[in-house]
Amino acid sequence: MNPKNVSRRDFIAASGAIAGAMLVNPLNAVSTSPLIADKKKRIAIVGTGSRAKGMWSSEVLQAYPDKVEFVGLCDINPGRVEYFKKSTGFTCPTFTDFEKMMKEIKPDTLIVTTVDATHHEFIVRGMELGADIITEKPMTTDEQKCQAILDAEKRTGKKVTVTFNYRYSPHRAKMYELLRSGAIGDITSVDFHWYLDTSHGADYFRRWHRLKEKGGSLWVHKATHHFDLLNWWIESDPAEVFATGTLDFYGKNHSFRHTHCRPCPHKENCNFYTDITKNKNYMELYVAHEKHDGYLRDGCVWKEDINIYDKMAATIKYQNGVQVSYSLTTYSPYEGYRIAFNGTKGRMDVWIEESNPIEDKPYDEIVLNKNFGTREFIRVPHSKSGHGGGDKLLKDKIFGGVTEDPLNQAANVRDGALSILIGIAARKSCETGQPVKISDLTSIKPGVKRQFATS
Ligand SMILES: NC(=O)c1ccc[n+]([C@@H]2O[C@H](COP(=O)([O-])OP(=O)(O)OC[C@H]3O[C@@H](n4cnc5c(N)ncnc54)[C@H](O)[C@@H]3O)[C@@H](O)[C@H]2O)c1
Repeated sequence: MNPKNVSRRDFIAASGAIAGAMLVNPLNAVSTSPLIADKKKRIAIVGTGSRAKGMWSSEVLQAYPDKVEFVGLCDINPGRVEYFKKSTGFTCPTFTDFEKMMKEIKPDTLIVTTVDATHHEFIVRGMELGADIITEKPMTTDEQKCQAILDAEKRTGKKVTVTFNYRYSPHRAKMYELLRSGAIGDITSVDFHWYLDTSHGADYFRRWHRLKEKGGSLWVHKATHHFDLLNWWIESDPAEVFATGTLDFYGKNHSFRHTHCRPCPHKENCNFYTDITKNKNYMELYVAHEKHDGYLRDGCVWKEDINIYDKMAATIKYQNGVQVSYSLTTYSPYEGYRIAFNGTKGRMDVWIEESNPIEDKPYDEIVLNKNFGTREFIRVPHSKSGHGGGDKLLKDKIFGGVTEDPLNQAANVRDGALSILIGIAARKSCETGQPVKISDLTSIKPGVKRQFATS
């Protein structure tokens, strides 16, 4: 059997045949198999923007040269896809037509890093044309598209992996361990508040994320990360969401505006003015290719077409009875989050400042308070690399042959769905003023206990 032609089913069957080797040493099982060692993932990317470039390209090839090869690149913007190829040093062909790429290249893995509202097109069609999917969050932006993905996965027998890198940050993994160890007894409620600062937060109002129809609003685009963490930490499925949200700060709320920063006559008076010409990467990735699609990377944060919320709050009930108070603010002086888990035996508090101009601590701190007992400070060192070192651990899991999953961090289509469904429910709740049941949105029946994905 030519390893290049091994389908996922054949692969699983063949893996069964080498089960003897696995039993001897499960941790080394993958490297003991010549079949698996020879089989490189043939990867294509659709959406060659900044996430694909920073997370899913050259570094992946450098880190796992014997496990992956990039065989095709596709983007709707012909200039950007050519630049991506040149800047990554990839030698594979480029396309602006997705169907053509899939039919000519026949990749076995497709990485989806396009604008959120288009993910479903590539996930569904990608599986139909024979690829397993690695998709960026959010998996998609509404419940119909979500259902289409769930149906396509079942129909094709292919697999969707959602890259929830936040689960892999060392301090969040430690929180998961402490919660499972019963350190605070049974979790009863969670207070979770996320603050985006005037740089990162504002960035969502500059480009496509500012439109609900492109990113599903920050309830979906951004909060999918936070809702996925909750689902993972609480280890139950969400049942119902009630939410409110308004646009109080950005968009129409200002006295002046322009199309984008470069030609803006209000530069001197605007705290949100950004000089993109000083950012070589953005100039080469975006500005140089504006002529093809009009994508302005330094768009005005005061544009009147902005239709997402910049201040959001939700109450989320879980199937196991846990209730969550969640909020997201997008114009804070600092970036980070506070979370507290209340339990039958105590409370766990975490306060993470992701950008702290005053103090740069080399660790993240978890405070464990026991009822009638002690207060313990647990310091978890963090790495400077992407998302506290989480991005690297996630890639090791996806490409590096790491098969163990002791903290249940692997995320499949159900995880991808349940995190966005909280955001979709919250968005609907804002629009209708009514609570929204997760079970009313798709065929997924939320359970008291989370179903684990296999990695
Ligand atoms: N996990 C994380 O922490 C994280 C961080 C950043 C971005 N992301 C996700 O990655 C994805 C990409 O984000 P980005 O910041 O790179 O955006 P981007 O705008 O830089 O890149 C998106 C690319 O998709 C292309 N595109 C859009 N529609 C297309 C279509 N129909 N066909 C082909 N190409 C199309 C655009 O031309 C662009 O090159 C988003 O889904 C985003 O949510 C995840």
